Amino acid sequence: MDSESNTPPPPKSHGRFFDWFDRRVGLRQILHEALDEPIPGGARWAYIFGSGLLFIFISQVITGIFLALYYVPSADHAHVSVAYITKAVAAGSFLRSLHVYGASAMIIILVLHIGQTFLFGSYKGRRELLWLSGCVLLALVLGMAFTGYLLPWDEKSYFATAVGTNILSEVPFVGNSLKEFLRGGTQLGTLTLSRFFALHVFFIPGMIFLFVAIHIFLFRQAGAAGPVSESPVHPRQPSEPFYPRQLLMDLSFTLVLICALGLLAYFDPAPLGPRANPADTLYVPRPEWYYRSFFEWLKFWHGAISVVGILVIPLVLAVLFAGLPFYDRRLERRPWRRPLAVASFGIVFVGLVYLGARSYQDDERDPDVAAQLARQNEETEAYMREPFVPQALGLPTPSASPVVSAALPSHSALYMAPSATSASANALIARGKAIFQSHMCFSCHGQGGVGTAIAPRLIGIGNKFSPAQLEHLFHHPLPQMTAGGMPPVKLSPQDMKALIAYLDSLK
Ligand code: HEC
Repeated sequence: MDSESNTPPPPKSHGRFFDWFDRRVGLRQILHEALDEPIPGGARWAYIFGSGLLFIFISQVITGIFLALYYVPSADHAHVSVAYITKAVAAGSFLRSLHVYGASAMIIILVLHIGQTFLFGSYKGRRELLWLSGCVLLALVLGMAFTGYLLPWDEKSYFATAVGTNILSEVPFVGNSLKEFLRGGTQLGTLTLSRFFALHVFFIPGMIFLFVAIHIFLFRQAGAAGPVSESPVHPRQPSEPFYPRQLLMDLSFTLVLICALGLLAYFDPAPLGPRANPADTLYVPRPEWYYRSFFEWLKFWHGAISVVGILVIPLVLAVLFAGLPFYDRRLERRPWRRPLAVASFGIVFVGLVYLGARSYQDDERDPDVAAQLARQNEETEAYMREPFVPQALGLPTPSASPVVSAALPSHSALYMAPSATSASANALIARGKAIFQSHMCFSCHGQGGVGTAIAPRLIGIGNKFSPAQLEHLFHHPLPQMTAGGMPPVKLSPQDMKALIAYLDSLK
């Protein structure tokens, strides 16, 4: 035989293209590294959460890029740009809802992932850095949830963030400086929004990419921990490669996530409330559900000792949590042999659930709060029903010339505070039309005021009454209006102006 018989047989061919690629990229080696990771004790459903988190993170990045195409991080335009996404962009509300629900899903799966790691004792045996990188990721995800919440700049997000950033002033000595640093001033405004935007879109995601890489690297370095009966340092149980069974389990979980998020986003789109009004003193702020427990916890601490409850206790818990693999050195992994660890985990978990539930209960029990929260919900629902109104009543007007805005693609013009009178008049009319719709005027006066059998035509009403007379008419309706069942028109002066502008435009 010739010398060729000494060389190893060539690897199984997967087709010419694959082989061509493999010789240049080393694809076989990469796939081997990625897919043949041994799992002691074999594939299990308990291990799916890490991949689930990775999937949600990627989904958040993709939907986030889409939102960033439209979003404008300024106090003047943030809300109208999110309203535009929600109400005018094709599938905009769906993609935004995926992003909103994705954030909640991330927190839920994170809790499951941590719970699994904790109960299986998978942090043991040379996995201290792996655990620490996971703790950093947990903090980063909570930071994403906090910074993203402000971006829509609706009432809910504005007031919740005002409360959230206020907590910083509890920090001794530097608290107020810290708060001003995060807010970019004493108040929440455009600088706060650009700060939160930069954190939410550049800084924290960059850190998450970095720490996901570190986390996965350290995980592969330590190896999968396997079932609780396995030694965390020298696995002895027969192992099974990641591909195909574990990969299939992970992918099935991902599929469940896709379906759940898709159905939720489709059938229950994430709401957007009216634009934040910092002067609204009645607004009752409430954080998103995952911050509810902490929110409730804050209620117990007042006065000089509040720093203990608001900072010291959470910090001590955080250090105990992050330091876990450094002081829990036993290699025992079975939960029933670790009563202290499991009990403390259970107490913290049950405590958090209890506080969260209590927070919702408190709201229901206080009739004033319950009524105000219900009102806020109604306002949000009413706002969601209104058609998209190009902004900008009473906003400071930049000096963009109408020529410039006419040259822009139509939807970017929508974000501009209109400078030409005609543009702001159009906005006023559009707003008036929305009020005409939402107050059901059309149910008697017909769509566009064409008139019906029950109520007269409103087209041309501007010739009959001046705006001042119309306003007087609404404040003092004629007997035949009341008799005909026309409800009293109660509106804010701004809305009244808009409605009259709309009626006046019906020609
Ligand atoms: C339940 C039916 C109903 C609804 C809803 C209703 N209207 Fe009327 N409206 C009437 C009737 C009836 C009259 C009086 C007809 C008459 O003069 O005999 C009237 C009169 C008016 C007039 C005076 C018309 C004229 O020529 O004198 C105006 C303006 C008007 N409505 C505006 C509105 C607006 C704006 C809304 C929504 C905020 C509204 N209406 C909702 C039934 C209704």
